[in-house]
This record gives sequence, C-alpha cells and structure tokens, in this order.
Amino acid sequence: MSERTFFQRIFGISATACAAEGSWTLDGKNLKIDPGKLPGLSSPGTGVRIEGKGLPERILLIHGTDGEFHAFRNRCTHGGRRLDSSGDGVQCCSVGKSFFDINGTIMSGSAKKNLKKFKIRRENNYIIIEL
Ligand code: FES
Repeated sequence: MSERTFFQRIFGISATACAAEGSWTLDGKNLKIDPGKLPGLSSPGTGVRIEGKGLPERILLIHGTDGEFHAFRNRCTHGGRRLDSSGDGVQCCSVGKSFFDINGTIMSGSAKKNLKKFKIRRENNYIIIEL
C-alpha cells in the first residue's frame, strides 16, 4: 500500500481499489470470488474492496503477508472509514490510523474495538467468504 497523504486521510480516501466487475457473486450468505479475475490480489500485502450490488456490508479481502487470504468488515471500528492492507494487518485510511492485526485485533490508533473478520474457505479455484 502506498503511504497516505494528509488530505487523503482527512477525506478518508482508501488506497485499495474495488474488485473488478464480474469477479464475485453473492450466493445466499456466501460471497464467491474468482481470484483469477483480481490481479490486484495476486501478491502478499495486497487487497481489494468488495462492496455494492446487494452486499449487506463492505468487505476488504487481503492477501496477507502470511500468504493466506483474510476478509474483514471494511469499516473501521473508530469512525467507520475504509481500511487498507498494511504490513502484517490492515490500517484505517483516516487520520486516526487505527491498525489491526491479521486477526482483526486492534493494535494501535484511535479505535478501541476489534474488527469483524469473516471465515474463508477455498472451493476449487474460488475463495468463499462466509458472511
Ligand atoms: S475512522 Fe479509523 S481511526 Fe478513525
């Protein structure tokens, strides 16, 4: 993730791009993702935003530095801003810079509560997020 400028943080502009059209579908309570259609998720330390189109909440899917995929509610527990993949966890894009580890546990910044993390499983070539 690139470093955020002061103005990007003031306005809460996330560094993470939205998932490409057609890269995911909502199937009941499961979000089915085709990682082959998400080049922004190909290497550890990257992430994509998944939101809109009937989703009950915004999701941040990251390819962690541990080589695994992790999915979080994309809403900082301080003020609701979006998050970005950052080092060994995720960081709020706002000035409070709350940082959560890979389990969603608050480590630093303005937030006091942990992030909601979703269960993930692999099915064939797809990533399934259990909402
Ligand atoms: S909204 Fe995330 S630190 Fe304030």
